[in-house]
Amino acid sequence: MVVLFLILSSVLSLQGALGSGRELKRVCYFTNWSNKVQVVEARFHIKDINPALCTHLIFAFARINTDSFRLNPTEVDDDNGSLTNKAGRYFDFTDLKKKNPKLVTLLSVGGASLSDAFIAVVSSPTLIRLFATNCVVYLRDRKFDGLDIDWEFPGRTLKDQFTELIRALREGFEREAFEQGRPRLLLTIAAGVGEEALQSYNITQVVGYVDFVNLMAYDFHGAWNGITAFSGPLYSRLSNYQFSPFLSQNWAVQHWLNESGFPEKLVLGVSLTGLSFTLEDPERNGVGAPIIDKGYAGPLKMIPGHLAYPEICQMLQNGATRVWDGEQKVNYAYKDNQWVGFEDRDSIKIKTQYALDMGLGE
Ligand SMILES: *[C@@H]1O[C@H](CO)[C@@H](O)[C@H](O)[C@H]1NC(C)=O
Ligand SMILES: *[C@@H]1O[C@H](CO)[C@@H](O)[C@H](O)[C@H]1NC(C)=O
Ligand SMILES: *[C@@H]1O[C@H](CO)[C@@H](O)[C@H](O)[C@H]1NC(C)=O
Ligand SMILES: *[C@@H]1O[C@H](CO)[C@@H](O)[C@H](O)[C@H]1NC(C)=O
Repeated sequence: MVVLFLILSSVLSLQGALGSGRELKRVCYFTNWSNKVQVVEARFHIKDINPALCTHLIFAFARINTDSFRLNPTEVDDDNGSLTNKAGRYFDFTDLKKKNPKLVTLLSVGGASLSDAFIAVVSSPTLIRLFATNCVVYLRDRKFDGLDIDWEFPGRTLKDQFTELIRALREGFEREAFEQGRPRLLLTIAAGVGEEALQSYNITQVVGYVDFVNLMAYDFHGAWNGITAFSGPLYSRLSNYQFSPFLSQNWAVQHWLNESGFPEKLVLGVSLTGLSFTLEDPERNGVGAPIIDKGYAGPLKMIPGHLAYPEICQMLQNGATRVWDGEQKVNYAYKDNQWVGFEDRDSIKIKTQYALDMGLGE
């Protein structure tokens, strides 16, 4: 997140410089583990968030209690369960609006490790409605402005149930807004873009019910491919037969756009984690070079295969060679047998210009 904010400043200034007169949505996720990384100086807390840089802030993730079909916090310090004596990170998070009244805060439910509970929710129309009603209460009690559904992934078999869930939530939010005479809660989804994940959505219908879609336009590649590649390339690598033409942000946006026809409801997701690899041969260090494993863990986040921006800066200071890839519009750097692809101000500017050109996320 720290890095995201640095880079977001360049998005802000770029929008200004382009004089487009449009304000793109700047949707930022705060992850529940960002203040728990091992190295104390690398921890990022809610108090570190600059509430002026993002238009929308999303807290990731809450879980679903499959006994009560209510939302539940994932960590004890997210929410201490007392509404008379409110305490916890959810409350600190929505309190950021005191510093920026235009800020919109949402709670994201699900994520890669907590999505199975959705299967129980969509098992009957009654449970779907119960969940929707419970969500309204939970969000209002904690002063969230909306809900982000991050189900990874319904798959082809639960595609219609997913649509039903989204439709019921939207109806529940509308009903409450009407009955209480207050602004409706927002509804968004975090959506996959890979060929398999795409089977999960009737895009035309789902886009109709949500306020916007956060395209998870990253994790296109990983160590499983056996070659060096970027997590979130803007364009497909058509020059190399080892790469699928369907794996890029541009392809994903075109696909969602073709099916939905609402560019303004699409938000292009950018991950600022650098995807790193251990090269088989240090002399073969381009894009598509053979690898033997993920990259070594960095000194701050200590996660093999993932480097945070400060860890990449350190690698560059230690003499890594930096290269700009003109075809896919991403940077990479290598030193000895270590290789990392990463975003910087230049790649983010190009993505921002792309979002403006395509009419996304207004
Ligand atoms: C954060 O949420 C995830 C689920 O997305 C959960 O597995 C994890 O235990 C939570 N806490 C931390 C510190 O990672
Ligand atoms: C919640 O936190 C408040 C403030 O720290 C405290 O007064 C209250 O006792 C806590 N309630 C529960 C149920 O833990
Ligand atoms: C999406 O739903 C609409 C309306 O029910 C239907 O006509 C269309 O065939 C569906 N599309 C897909 C790709 O399932
Ligand atoms: C989008 O639609 C155009 C025009 O029908 C088509 O040429 C293109 O292949 C489609 N792209 C994707 C990614 O679906």
